[in-house]
Order: sequence, then structure tokens, then C-alpha cells
Amino acid sequence: MLKVLAIETSCDETSVSIVSNSDDMYKIHSNIVASQIQDHSKWGGVVPEIAARRHLELIPFVLEQALAESKISIEDIDVIASTVAPGLVGCLRVGSITARSLCTLYSKPFLGVHHLEGHLSSILFSKNYPNPPFLTLLVSGGHTELIKVGERREMQRLGRSFDDAAGEAFDKVGRLLGLSYPGGPAIAKIAKKGNASKFNLPKCKISNQEGGYLKYDFSFSGLKTAVLRLIEKINLNGDKIPTSDIAASFERVVAEVLVERTINCAMDKGLENIVVVGGVAANDTLRKMMIREASKKSIKVHLPPQNLCTDNAAMIGAAALFRLKLSPHESSLKLGISGRLPIDQAYTLYEKNPPF
Ligand code: KG4
Ligand code: ZN
Repeated sequence: MLKVLAIETSCDETSVSIVSNSDDMYKIHSNIVASQIQDHSKWGGVVPEIAARRHLELIPFVLEQALAESKISIEDIDVIASTVAPGLVGCLRVGSITARSLCTLYSKPFLGVHHLEGHLSSILFSKNYPNPPFLTLLVSGGHTELIKVGERREMQRLGRSFDDAAGEAFDKVGRLLGLSYPGGPAIAKIAKKGNASKFNLPKCKISNQEGGYLKYDFSFSGLKTAVLRLIEKINLNGDKIPTSDIAASFERVVAEVLVERTINCAMDKGLENIVVVGGVAANDTLRKMMIREASKKSIKVHLPPQNLCTDNAAMIGAAALFRLKLSPHESSLKLGISGRLPIDQAYTLYEKNPPF
């Protein structure tokens, strides 16, 4: 059994987790997530400077709690991992320096992990996770991507959003509707009371220069503008804003777009399994619609437990353990951090000369 202590601080959650694996079973011994939502909500989004400072303040306590809850002593940990890219640089630096300091103090190997590979690895905690190759829809606050995952974690990006990520669209529309940050869970909550067929909102597509549309790509900024125009029109008429109906209609359109393009991509590429990960994968409407529509095409859908969809360190620990299973590796303590690193470049972290 290999035990990893993992740290995640790439955005606005300070998280430390202890995860182990033996054979193909991944086990969470503790997963403490200190959310900074309250600190950022009055600004309507994450303030990088505040986030980095809060990570610094919170991390000693989150670390202490994760160790206490796991009942595993730090001396018995095999590897210490942290997210090193992509994310907010000031935030990434806090987790990475904490992990590397612990490695020096306790003479442990360090492993740098790609945040999106962490999201992808959250599926390892679900029952019967699929064997590759499979198609992953990664939908978070910063990314909307379709990725084909191969047997040795080769990742090929087949589609992406050209503007806002799906989670970002939820957050921006949430703000337009006067809901609290983050918009995703707030919209999902009030959408339950709304009529999802009330408003016809656009399913935006990206034009292909050679004609037609890019089949696997996404655009959500036009949808957000359509919601803004709708609210302006209702205001102009002096009517009450039907918040729940707009939320439900918006949520339905986002889910339909994600489901349609993901299933088309899986069918075109002959992939029989779809994995949905990232914060937006917590959305009930999306989860149900994806399962229902995929089953009509004999495609199986795999979803992580809902509490592991949004940022957490357990998924970073699982990614580290998966990489170590593929081949033994230890990151240099000189490995830096980077705000950007596409997911199909994640393997470069484990090469002789990593990119930063
Ligand atoms: O993966 P995540 O925690 O952070 C990033 O790596 O970006 O995703 C956060 C995003 C936010 O935009 C949030 O609004 C969205 O996930 N989100 C949801 C739900 N829960 C979180 N969106 C829709 N429905 C939800 N239930
Ligand atoms: Zn994330």
C-alpha cells in the first residue's frame, strides 16, 4: 500500500488529503477542504491576492486536521504531492512550497501534479471506473474540454471552449440573476423550482473556417449575453424577473450542449465510456441527462462522487498514485509552478527536464 499526502491550493479551496492505493483500489483516509467562498463572495469572484493570503493562513490547520483525521503519522507517508499547474500562481506557490518544505523536513519524495489530471483522477474513487481509452468531459470554473484518455494517460484534447468555461458561465449568469457566488450551486438550487422550457436560449457554436461548425468545441459567452438581454427586456417592461425559470432554462441549455457534443464525439471516435469530471460535474441536471442520453447510444457514463467534483486534495493524491503506478518518479524540489499548462502536456512534469 502506497500512502500519499496531497495538497491542493490552485484556486480558492485550501485542501489537504491522505490517500492510499493497493491493487486498483483508491482509499481516502482524510480529505479536508477549507473553502474561501465567504472571503470572495462579496467581490462576486475569486480575488487572487486574497486567495493566496488565505491559503497561507489556513494551510497549517488544514494539514494538522488531515493528519489527525487519517490517524496516519507523517513519518508513515510515502510521497508528498501538490498541484503545480495550472491555477493562480500566488496560490499554487503556497501549496507547492508547503509540500516541498515537508519533503525536506521528513526526507520524503515530492511529486508535482497537474490540477486537471487531478480532476480526471477523481473518477478513481467511483465504483467500476472504466479502463482506458475513454472520453472525458472536463467541466470546471476555468476549463471546458473533451479529452481522449489513453492507456498510459496519454491525453488528446478533442474539444474546448473558445471563450467562457461552463462553470464561468454559471458564475456570471448567477451574478446577473443576483445570486450568491459561486453561481453553479446557486443556479442549480433555484432551477429546481423553475420551468426549464420557459425560455429558448441559444446553443452557441464555433464556425469552422472551411465551412460548417466545429463539432466538439464550445462557446458560452453568447449564452450569457442572451440571458443579459432577456433580463434587460423584462426590466424594460417593468415585469418581475422570473429568476427560477431563467435559471432552469439556462441550466438545461448548458447541459444539452455539453451532453450532445460529448456523445457525438464519443460516437465518432468509437469510445464506449464517458467520464464527466470538474466542478460542473456536480450538477444533477447534467449528470442525469448525460446518463439518460448516453444509454440510448449504449454508451456508459462514469461520474465521481459529487463531493469530489469541486476542488479537493484527494483527487490530487489519486493522480499522484496513478502516475507512480505507471512508472516510479520523483519530482525535483526545484520544480516550480505555472499558471498555464495544457492537460495534454501533463506528462512533461514527469520527464527528465520538466517545463518549469
Ligand atoms: O472544479 P472547480 O471546483 O474549480 C476549478 O478548477 O475551476 O469548479 C468550480 C466551478 C464553479 O464555476 C462553480 O460554479 C461550478 O464549478 N459548480 C457547479 C456546481 N457546483 C460547482 N456548476 C453547476 N452546478 C453545480 N452543482
Ligand atoms: Zn479545479
